[in-house]
Amino acid sequence: MIFRQLFEQESSTYTYLIACEETRKAALIDTVKSEVSQYIQLLHELNLTLAYTLDTHTHADHITGAGELRDLTGCTTLLGEEAHSACVSQALHDGEKISVGKLTLTALYTPGHTDDSYTFHLIDGIEQYLFTGDTLLIRGTGRTDFQNGSAQDQYQSLFGKLLLLPETTWVYPGHDYKGWTRSTIGEEKAHNPRLQVKHMQAYVDLMNNLKLPNPTLMDIAVPANRACGQN
Ligand SMILES: [Fe+2]
Repeated sequence: MIFRQLFEQESSTYTYLIACEETRKAALIDTVKSEVSQYIQLLHELNLTLAYTLDTHTHADHITGAGELRDLTGCTTLLGEEAHSACVSQALHDGEKISVGKLTLTALYTPGHTDDSYTFHLIDGIEQYLFTGDTLLIRGTGRTDFQNGSAQDQYQSLFGKLLLLPETTWVYPGHDYKGWTRSTIGEEKAHNPRLQVKHMQAYVDLMNNLKLPNPTLMDIAVPANRACGQN
C-alpha cells in the first residue's frame, strides 16, 4: 500500500492518500480545497490515478476539495447518505465497501460528532487502519454540540464499534492540534481522557459541559461543503 498523511495548517486537518501499488489507483480522505494543487502534483509524481475522494463528514472548519478534484480528475466523490448532499457522486451507507485497486475500505457509520460521520476501516495484510474523522481524535473526541451531533450516539459509535476493534489497530484522526500524528485503539482506550467514563450518562455529561466556541469558518464551510466545496 502507498500511504501518505498530509497536513493543512489553517484548520489542522489531516488528509490521507491511500493507493494500491499494483493498479496505481488512489483515494484521498478529507481533502482541503486550498491544497488541491498539491494533491494533484503528488498524484502525478507517484504515478497514481485518483479513483475516489471520501469525506468522513460535512466539515465545519474547512472547505472540502472533493468537487474541484472531481472536476480535475473525474474521480468519484463519496459522503455519507445522511449528509443529503445533492452534489456527491455516491452516498455511502453503513458497511459499504469501497475498492481502491486491490485495497478495500469499509465505511462504518459512526454518528455523534455529526449525524453524517463515518469512519473508514482498512485492512492491509496484518495491519488495520481506522480513518476516524472527528469521531475519535488522539486523546480526544470530536465535539457533539452542533450539526445534529449527539453525545449518546458518539458513545455508541466509540464503545459499541471502534473500541471493539483489535488494540493494535492504527488510529488516524481528521485533525490534531498538538502535532500528534497517529495512535492505536489500545493506546486511546488506556490514555484518552474522554474514554475513561464508566457509562453513557457520564460521557454525555462530559461532552455537554465542554462549552466550546463555534469554529470560525462554520457558517461558510457547512453550506459550501454541502455543495462539495464549490459554492
Ligand atoms: Fe468536524
